[in-house]
Amino acid sequence: MSKNIIITGGAGFIGSHVVRLFVNKYPDYTIINLDALTYAGNLENLKDIDSKPNYKFVKANILDVPAIEKIFDEYHVTDVIHLAAESHVDRSIVSPLDFVYTNVIGTVNLLNVAKTKWAANLSGHRFYHISTDEVYGSLGETGLFTETTPYDPNSPYSASKASSDHFVRAYRETYHMQTVVSNCSNNYGPYHFPEKLIPLFIHNIIQKKPLPVYGDGLYTRDWLYVKDHALAIDLVFHEGKDGETYNIGGFNEWKNIDLVKLLCAQMDQKLGNAKGTSEQLITYIKDRPGHDRRYAIDATKINKELGWKPTVTFEQGLSETIDWFLQNSSWLENVTSGNYQNYYQSMYNNR
Ligand code: NAD
Ligand code: DAU
Repeated sequence: MSKNIIITGGAGFIGSHVVRLFVNKYPDYTIINLDALTYAGNLENLKDIDSKPNYKFVKANILDVPAIEKIFDEYHVTDVIHLAAESHVDRSIVSPLDFVYTNVIGTVNLLNVAKTKWAANLSGHRFYHISTDEVYGSLGETGLFTETTPYDPNSPYSASKASSDHFVRAYRETYHMQTVVSNCSNNYGPYHFPEKLIPLFIHNIIQKKPLPVYGDGLYTRDWLYVKDHALAIDLVFHEGKDGETYNIGGFNEWKNIDLVKLLCAQMDQKLGNAKGTSEQLITYIKDRPGHDRRYAIDATKINKELGWKPTVTFEQGLSETIDWFLQNSSWLENVTSGNYQNYYQSMYNNR
C-alpha cells in the first residue's frame, strides 16, 4: 500500500539512516523529510538518495504550525515518524528551554496538526514517536530498563523527551490517535555529530587532541549500531501494535573508559600508530552535572514480538564507523568548522 510519510529530523544522525532505508526499500512510498536544519541537520547526510523520485525535502521547523499544516495538505500525509529533537544532554544543561520548545512544544504541534488533518479517519494513520532510554533515569549496578520501568528523567534533555512521550500517550488515550513509541539506547555510526562521545573522540584522535572523559569514566551505556536502530524502526512502524511501547537496545553495555580504550586501540591500528599512542590523549575532566550512572535496555519484547535483534557486533560496528569517518574527512571538516569551534571552547575549556 502506498503511503506518504513525514520523517521529522531526517537530516540528522539517526533520521538520515531511517530516511535512506525507507526511500530505498519502499519505492511506492513518498518520504517527506521535514527538518529545520539546525546545527545537527545536514543535507550532505543524504546526498546519495536526494535525487530519488520518492524523496522530498522540506525545510521547516516543528514550532511553525502553518508550515506543518501546509506540508500535510500538499503531500496528503498518511503517517508520521517523529525524530526531530534537540538531542545532546550537555547542550540541554546549558539551554534547557531550547529543549522544551523543540522536544515538547514541537511534538505537541505535530500531534495537533496530525489529529486535525486525520480527523475523518484517525484509525487509518500512524504517529510513531522516537524516544530514548534516558526517560527511565539511571540504573544501579544491576537490572535493565523494561517497557514498564517508571519514568525518572534526570537531565533537561531526558525530562523534555519524557514529557513528549507523555503527550503522545495522552493523545492516544484522549483522542484515540493511533500511536506507537520506541525507546532506544545509545546509537553510534556514520554521520554521528562530533559532539557525542564516539564521534568526538574519533575526531580528537585524528587531531591528536585530548580525549575528555567525564568524572571517573565508569559510567555505563548500552551501544547500538545506528543501522540496526533504523531496521528496528522499520519493523515497529509496520508491525508494532497500536498504543504499544518497544524498548530497543544493543545487549551491549560498556563502561565509558573501556569503550574509549577499545576505540583508541582500533584507531591506532587503522592509523598505523604504535600501540598505546591514542590512550595517552585520555584526560579526566569535571563530571557532567546530574550524570546518569548506567543505562541498559531489556529488548526482549521487540525480539520476541517482532523478531528484531542487532545484526552487527560492537567491534564490527565500531570498526565500520571509524573507517567511515576516516574515509569521509571532508564531512568531518565541514561540520567542525564555524560554530562548532565556539561550542567546543565553551563546553570543554576550563573544565
Ligand atoms: P540529531 O541531533 O543528530 O538530529 C536531530 C535532527 O532534528 C536534526 O536534523 C535537526 O536539524 C532536526 N531538528 C532539530 N530541531 C528541529 C525543529 N525545531 N524542527 C525541525 N527539525 C528540527 O539527533 P539524533 O541523535 O539523530 O536523534 C534523533 C531522535 O532519536 C531524537 O528524537 C532523539 O531523542 C532520539 N534518540 C537518539 C539516540 C542517540 O543515541 N542519538 C538514542 C535514542 C533516541
Ligand atoms: O541513551 C540514549 C541517549 O544517548 C540519546 O537519547 C541521546 O540523544 C544521546 O546523545 C545519548 O546520550 P548520552 O549522554 O548517553 O551520550 P553522549 O555521547 O553525550 O555521552 C555518552 C557517555 O560519555 C556519557 O556517560 C557521557 C560521556 N562523555 C560524553 C562526552 C560528549 C564523556 O565522558 N566525555 C565527553 O566529551
